[in-house]
Amino acid sequence: MKLIKFIMILQHMKARCGIYPRSTIQRFSVPDDKVSWNVEYKEYNPPNYTSASIYGKPWADPDIADSNFKPNWNSLDGNVNRKSHMGLYQITNGYPINPVGRTGICGRGVLGRWGPNHAADPVVTRWKRLNNGEMEIDKLNNKPILQFIAIKRGDTGEWALPGGMVDPGEKVAATAVREFQEEAMNSFVATEEQKAEWSQIFDKFFSGGVEVYSGYVDDPRNTDNSWMETVAYNFHDHDGSTVGKLKLNAGDDAVGVRWVDITPDIKLYASHKDIVEEVSKRLTLE
Ligand code: BGC
Repeated sequence: MKLIKFIMILQHMKARCGIYPRSTIQRFSVPDDKVSWNVEYKEYNPPNYTSASIYGKPWADPDIADSNFKPNWNSLDGNVNRKSHMGLYQITNGYPINPVGRTGICGRGVLGRWGPNHAADPVVTRWKRLNNGEMEIDKLNNKPILQFIAIKRGDTGEWALPGGMVDPGEKVAATAVREFQEEAMNSFVATEEQKAEWSQIFDKFFSGGVEVYSGYVDDPRNTDNSWMETVAYNFHDHDGSTVGKLKLNAGDDAVGVRWVDITPDIKLYASHKDIVEEVSKRLTLE
């Protein structure tokens, strides 16, 4: 049975704080009690911002006002998935509306799609081991320590899951595996010999993913009209004999990669902390 867990994001924090990424645009202030669209906020007057850098990109939509742009909201629109994991989203004056609430900015910011922008995240885990191969036990709670593969994002410098955007028409699970290979193994520069060696390990290991989250992500790039969603899969190397042994090598958008202990004080990009904690809960209960 496929296990699906929705981590309920009732509010967003990172999606309504301060200056919008890669810009000097200040978000309009949205206090906690004004996030919901159901609460009246008469003074609400968010700046409208769409980065010049996204125009003409193959992964970006045209402007809503463009008469050639006829999106099918809440549907699979050709190869582009405009469905949300959060249910049906509203369209107001032609613009899709963020299902979690106000973000203090409208337009698309640096995101390519109006409405949901879909990503996939691999959570590759192993138990931390001592040099003699035995599992290391956390002295504070007497439990084994779970580790996952994190990359350092080139854009914000934060540690994150090695995920990425789903290409049009691509299966989400395939995105998770492709992104892992690009960002954590630097598959772009790998030799044919290395790739052949990995494929023996990867094919089996990555066919055993468990879906642990699908839904909205509290991402700093979100706006009132464009937002990130992800599907996260856990791939667990129970005895540390496969991926747990591989040499990691940061590539693509990543500037660093390492195994990170999952501890309560961990700090990660967007909602990735919620996702790894969910994985940790599941594996510790097994
Ligand atoms: C990242 C994913 C992340 C998503 C939402 C993408 O750019 O690659 O790891 O889950 O954004 O924040």
